[in-house]
Amino acid sequence: MNRLQLFPDTAQIENDSLTIAGHDLTALAETHGTPLYIYDRATMDNAVAGYKSALRAHYPARAEITYAGKAFLCTAIAQWTQEHNLLIDCTGEGEIAIALAGGVPRERILVHGVNKSPADLKSALQNAGTIVVDNLTELHRIKSLITNYQSPNLWLRLLPGLAVQTHHSHTQTGQHSSKFGMNAEEWMEAAWTCEQNNLPLNGIHFHQGSNFRDASPLKDAIQLALDAAREIGFAGEWHFSPGGGWGVAYHEDELPGPDINEYVRVIAEEVVKGCTARGLALPILHIEPGRSLAARAGVAIYCVGAVKRHGNVTWLLTDGGMADNPRHALYGARYSCLTVAGLGRERSESVNIAGPFCESGDVIIEDLSMPKVEEGELIAVPVSGAYQLSMSSNYNGARRPAVLWLEEGRAHLIVRRETTDDLLKRDLSL
Ligand SMILES: Cc1ncc(COP(=O)(O)O)c(C=O)c1O
Repeated sequence: MNRLQLFPDTAQIENDSLTIAGHDLTALAETHGTPLYIYDRATMDNAVAGYKSALRAHYPARAEITYAGKAFLCTAIAQWTQEHNLLIDCTGEGEIAIALAGGVPRERILVHGVNKSPADLKSALQNAGTIVVDNLTELHRIKSLITNYQSPNLWLRLLPGLAVQTHHSHTQTGQHSSKFGMNAEEWMEAAWTCEQNNLPLNGIHFHQGSNFRDASPLKDAIQLALDAAREIGFAGEWHFSPGGGWGVAYHEDELPGPDINEYVRVIAEEVVKGCTARGLALPILHIEPGRSLAARAGVAIYCVGAVKRHGNVTWLLTDGGMADNPRHALYGARYSCLTVAGLGRERSESVNIAGPFCESGDVIIEDLSMPKVEEGELIAVPVSGAYQLSMSSNYNGARRPAVLWLEEGRAHLIVRRETTDDLLKRDLSL
């Protein structure tokens, strides 16, 4: 399969070099330095359009798309969500602040979190339209705070006891042993507490894991959650969210990537079938994608500073790695890549690609066929838009990369590169 297909929709090879939205990546790297992240607007817009058209085709009642901010959030991305009338899922006070900076109105902010701090809850109560309650302790905290604030809607996060198939257990969340959500005994008590205290409970949610490509395990979880909805007995309009987590292809071996239409079809048909069988009114259906909206739009551009050939192992050593992309170190995520120029060359050796950080786990890619890459060359790693920068760090004093938003004819800086001054900003002298 063609590696270029992993790149954003606008990626092309022109004069043996990679371009995105008509921009020459070498020129962007010269202007903005490396490591450099770019987001291709067209790819993000197209992914939203795919979700919208699938929901229109398969779900006969109102549906909403919630962008999972944990995939990658900054002010510009928050603004972009509002161009498409999306909700934003914010985990805690920090992400809520970014959503507010992007002008997201209260009713479009939904707050998740497995152990929301008092500050998270206060911010959620002040600024969000919906809080997804993870546990009973949180519900009691909300109960004591709610009189002080205009109340957001409350949904209960169920623990379905059923996970989806992901490439690593660390990206599964629905199984019995997971830290997320409430088991049947707990959500029943939570629903009772809401009823007794007149709390505005009007939805249920579950999320089984992230980066899956077989939607069938959702079916049993949807049926379980609809049983819970019947038990709770929502009066009037109610909300149902089977979370997000739809996968993307990261490596050419995984092409073609999972189909958004198929994912939405499975969910919508199961919800309609389950509600009809139980005599429930159709809920407002919410889907919470992060990765499948942002991942393919993002590309990380690195400069190869040194090449080591030790026996039959070749290391391409780049200027970025686990500090901007910890996913390989965290759970063995696979990636692929292309050189930015000289794309006509034959792929003649298998390489490992690693960063400059003092950890043997600072690896981005293992065992990938590449041409003979020279020191000083640029490489582009596709599918870098989700769970990379949002999990980035300052390890070894790394300064987080600049981020560009690419449209035809416009390369707009949406996050400036961190500086050493930024690194020192929080430090105080003895
Ligand atoms: C509650 C919840 N919703 C949505 C998502 C988004 O998942 P993804 O980015 O894989 O679509 C996550 C991610 O783990 C999540 O925890």
